[in-house]
Amino acid sequence: MRHIMVLNPKGGCGKSTIATNLASYYAFTGNKVALVDYDPQQSSLDWLNRRPEKRAPIFGAAGHKDGMKHVPRNCDVVIIDAPARSHGKELKNLLHNAQTILIPILPSTIDMQATEKFIQELKATPRVKNRKVKIAVLANRVRNNTISFDELDDYLNKLKIPYIATLREAQNYVRAYTRGLGIFDLPPYLSWPDQEEWEPLLEWLKGRSSKPKG
Ligand SMILES: Nc1ncnc2c1ncn2[C@@H]1O[C@H](COP(=O)(O)OP(=O)(O)OP(=O)(O)O)[C@@H](O)[C@H]1O
Ligand SMILES: [Mg+2]
Repeated sequence: MRHIMVLNPKGGCGKSTIATNLASYYAFTGNKVALVDYDPQQSSLDWLNRRPEKRAPIFGAAGHKDGMKHVPRNCDVVIIDAPARSHGKELKNLLHNAQTILIPILPSTIDMQATEKFIQELKATPRVKNRKVKIAVLANRVRNNTISFDELDDYLNKLKIPYIATLREAQNYVRAYTRGLGIFDLPPYLSWPDQEEWEPLLEWLKGRSSKPKG
């Protein structure tokens, strides 16, 4: 069973958007998927409630109440949506559930500074130090040719953490979310530019460097 967590204590950087799109991608490609929502706001579970029945099924669990208790053991992939403001003990507990952590970052100075501090905290945790969990960053809601994106791009390249994708700001994410879908459930003629941007991320998740040894 593969456990992938989307995490960044900074609010609104796209954790639930990435988590729901990953869950629907893995379901769309024939995997048995659980989506575990650790956020009391329950954005991911709300999304799942709106998901049409005829779409590839995803099992939902309220991680903030029950942890991983109800996740079926025969799942291929477990996607975990983490809450904002996870630090200290809560962060350590969350890390025990993940093999891979994806950190979305917005192109804004406030977000970059907040994430910088968080990444230092994350790197100091025993699970990351001992490579029991692998981490990667991705840029989200990017508008090309803006100063803030150039800054973010520079910043992410210097982090010494895999920088695996750049996702543009697109209404496809908003439309899909409202309907309980991901961009991979949308017609390709609408969503191909976004689907293409996910390719390096999905490739990285397939590869060995995103999985801890043993
Ligand atoms: N690539 C994108 N393009 C357009 N809108 C986006 C994109 N990513 C996220 N959004 C929008 O940004 C807002 C915040 O995204 P989201 O809820 O996924 O962030 P979050 O990190 O889960 O927030 P929270 O910390 O509150 O849980 C939402 O309105 C979402 O639709
Ligand atoms: Mg969220």
